[in-house]
Amino acid sequence: MAGRILIIADGPAALSYAPELITRLRQKKYTVQVAPTAYDGPSALAFVSELAWATISGHPCKAIEKLDAEAFRQQDLILLAPVSPQVLEVFRRGKALAYLQEAGKPVLAVPARLPDAVDEDPVLFQTQMPSRSRLCLGETPLELGAMGALKITPTETLLHFVDAALSKNDLQGKSALITAGPTAEDLDPVRYLTNRSTGKMGVALAIAAAVRGAEVHLIHGPLQTTLPELPNLHAISVRSAAQMHQAVVDHWHHLDFAILAAAVADFTPDHYVPQKIKKIDGQSLILHLLRTPDILAELGSREDHPYLVGFAAESDDVEINAINKLRKKRCDLICANDIRKPGCGFATDTNQITLYSPDEAPMQLPLKDKAEVAHDILNHIAKHLVK
Ligand code: CTP
Repeated sequence: MAGRILIIADGPAALSYAPELITRLRQKKYTVQVAPTAYDGPSALAFVSELAWATISGHPCKAIEKLDAEAFRQQDLILLAPVSPQVLEVFRRGKALAYLQEAGKPVLAVPARLPDAVDEDPVLFQTQMPSRSRLCLGETPLELGAMGALKITPTETLLHFVDAALSKNDLQGKSALITAGPTAEDLDPVRYLTNRSTGKMGVALAIAAAVRGAEVHLIHGPLQTTLPELPNLHAISVRSAAQMHQAVVDHWHHLDFAILAAAVADFTPDHYVPQKIKKIDGQSLILHLLRTPDILAELGSREDHPYLVGFAAESDDVEINAINKLRKKRCDLICANDIRKPGCGFATDTNQITLYSPDEAPMQLPLKDKAEVAHDILNHIAKHLVK
């Protein structure tokens, strides 16, 4: 995603929060400019010099008090990180607030609050902020050394809010169901059957769809990745294939698209043993496994299914298997990957996918970060939803 972001920084959080945020935004290819506060007292410039801001952001820095109207107009997003009573005071006394209103750009305000602050106090900020501003409240402790601690939105979550503010919002108003992760099939209180999936691809799809405006229900098995708190991303945690099946059926209404990226166990023990199974010398143990419901195939067999996307992780005959799966499970799209290729297997941060659909030639996507692959898959879905 591209865009120009102006970060207004203040106080000690300028030292402990803003630098990492700026680095992460630049890694995501955003252009960042910093406008520190410069009043007498614990302003941003008292903690971090102009030269340091310019070095971290790669862009000349000018104090907020010295910015002109054009500096606001040039931006795609204004980020008040953190917004504080002192920033509001600078706004009140100078022309910055008028320039910001006039520029008409989206504003994200990130309060750094005292640990015992209650949720009513942001109202105070809201009443003094430009109408287009959105508050990002968070509970993560922000350590300020000798100055104590505040609480703030985690950087990771804020990055998703930034992506959402600058996204093309092409999935706004669309409702999506996504499955992710492995399932775990319990055998006894200690043992279970599962697979190598970490859930990264499904979670990346859910975040990307939410960032682009969709209302997303993410039904996931045990994950090895954390989920951000986004207002339109609703996570439903399950354990077994049977529970995932039930959760999908429960949420199977008024959907525009569904992406089944979970690595659902194909087999489950025929019964659960409530006590730990003890080994007996000289005896082997034979497990009897039953087939689990094929959720994707069941959904594909319904006449009224929404745009339906499945995954095929293959080690041989990728194309043949993907096309077979597309037909057999009656999907609109299969995302296939060759798990033997470097950077494509389970637990990697990258993936290389080929898209198979009934009416188009296969489309091979390059090896990319899973977040970018997720956007490529969603581009394909979005194109079909407007048809
Ligand atoms: N899937 C599902 N429910 C299952 C099994 C799989 O919804 N019980 C979905 C997966 O989420 C994925 C696709 O089906 O979208 C994978 O197809 P599948 O035939 O299960 O793949 P493999 O297990 O790899 O197939 P095979 O047994 O042919 O190797």
